[in-house]
Amino acid sequence: MEILELQSKVHDESKQGEAYAPFEADPNLYKKRFYIESYGCAMNFSDSEIVASILHTEGFGATKNFEEADLVLLNTCSIREKAEQTVRKRLTEFRKTKRKKPGMLIGVLGCMAERLKTKLLEEEKLVDLVVGPDAYRSLPSLIEEAEGGQKMVNVLLSRDETYADISPVRLDSNGICAFISIMRGCNNMCSFCVVPFTRGRERSRDAHSIIAEAKDLFDRGFREVTLLGQNVDSYYWTDENNHETVTFAMLLERVALVSPLLRIRFSTSHPKDITDDVLHTMAKYHNICKYIHLPVQSGSSRILQMMNRTYSREWYMAKVDRIKEIMPDCSISADIIAGFCTETEEDHQDTLSIMEYSKYDYSYMFFYSERPGTLAERRYTDDIPEEIKKRRLQEIIDVQSRLSKESNLLDIGKSFEVLIEGESKKDEKDWKGRTSQNKVVIFPKENYAFRAGDYAQVKIDECTQGTLLGKIIKN
Ligand code: SAH
Ligand code: SF4
Ligand code: F3S
Repeated sequence: MEILELQSKVHDESKQGEAYAPFEADPNLYKKRFYIESYGCAMNFSDSEIVASILHTEGFGATKNFEEADLVLLNTCSIREKAEQTVRKRLTEFRKTKRKKPGMLIGVLGCMAERLKTKLLEEEKLVDLVVGPDAYRSLPSLIEEAEGGQKMVNVLLSRDETYADISPVRLDSNGICAFISIMRGCNNMCSFCVVPFTRGRERSRDAHSIIAEAKDLFDRGFREVTLLGQNVDSYYWTDENNHETVTFAMLLERVALVSPLLRIRFSTSHPKDITDDVLHTMAKYHNICKYIHLPVQSGSSRILQMMNRTYSREWYMAKVDRIKEIMPDCSISADIIAGFCTETEEDHQDTLSIMEYSKYDYSYMFFYSERPGTLAERRYTDDIPEEIKKRRLQEIIDVQSRLSKESNLLDIGKSFEVLIEGESKKDEKDWKGRTSQNKVVIFPKENYAFRAGDYAQVKIDECTQGTLLGKIIKN
């Protein structure tokens, strides 16, 4: 999956925020052109697809070249300071083009829009629009006003907006894998995190609209959907008359029943909320992928408490045990933060040892970046010097590299069902796909009549730290 691939390149702060260019729309169908770039998490990429859909109905077609665009949008992320810096740099580049082409509108969407609100218009004089994540329906009217020379801002957060009725336009898609947003916002208050402030209260999307979107994707040839939310396990939807209640485990089951040929993934799970029900549902359906992203953040109970994660080291380890007990073949990945406030060498060692215990197949690793307005910023001092944060992060990355390699070595000699996502970028004679456990597999096409979207049985005979290499087995 293209977008997860972008994310999976994010090993440290310096690589955060890679851009993503949309497909090219037919110039005869649309009178104006828009260009959009997305930063941050999958929710933002998914939101850009909603924005694209809203813009289509307003006569804007996508372009891959921002210099050609009438409207340039940056869907931004505030999670770490570095992410915001990247966007500011990008805005400077857009400004140069705008000087030559004054009619071009520049808009900032997403989490930075929410965090900085009108400040962006004051600081970045050439920004015309600032629109927060819950205000995309107002884009058409805001654009119209902005075309008349007004600076427009809408950063209202909503308690019920889920964009349930908007059918996303799939941007830069491989035609096989797609995201489906199932909820928005977050009610947790992890002390380091800006998301509850930028995305507002948690709300779950109408279950029927989610199933309908999954069916539609399947009918159009898609073979994998990733259900998205900041905390998917707390998905909980009740219809207007209170006749029907759907939990995350129930939703997973309903999506799994769309077709046995449709793979289901989900992200992100919070260790405190993932239930046995969810684990049993995963085990019951072959097409629910055996992969859980279970951010640990730290291995020290003291730090976890300061982070307000509401679980301890022991609780987390018991959750890992439970996952492996119910699904021995399930892979687990994590998010890890190095150098949170007051972190000692002993706390850091606890993080390294929980990684060993959990045997993560993959991790997203960061060093702590203090965010204005968060609980941690208000309560604690960001007291770990940057060189220590970076050294600890490097140690975490080194452990993870070894764990990933060890996990891949264990797969040699085994065979896996691989969903073919497309040709390998390096060699058109090879296919690229993924196992249920979310590992990338490269294998020669040989003379088999497979196409993207098909499932192939592949035996693994080699690996690198990030990829499995194998051969199709004759069935
Ligand atoms: N909702 C998800 C992830 C949200 S943000 C969850 O709860 O797990 C993705 C990751 O960014 C987090 O899991 C965390 O590891 C990291 N992160 C968030 N705030 C951060 C900060 N202030 N500094 C460094 N990393 C941070
Ligand atoms: Fe942030 Fe915590 Fe919510 Fe994840 S669960 S988005 S880390 S507050
Ligand atoms: Fe970034 Fe917002 Fe996602 S802060 S990580 S884009 S929810």
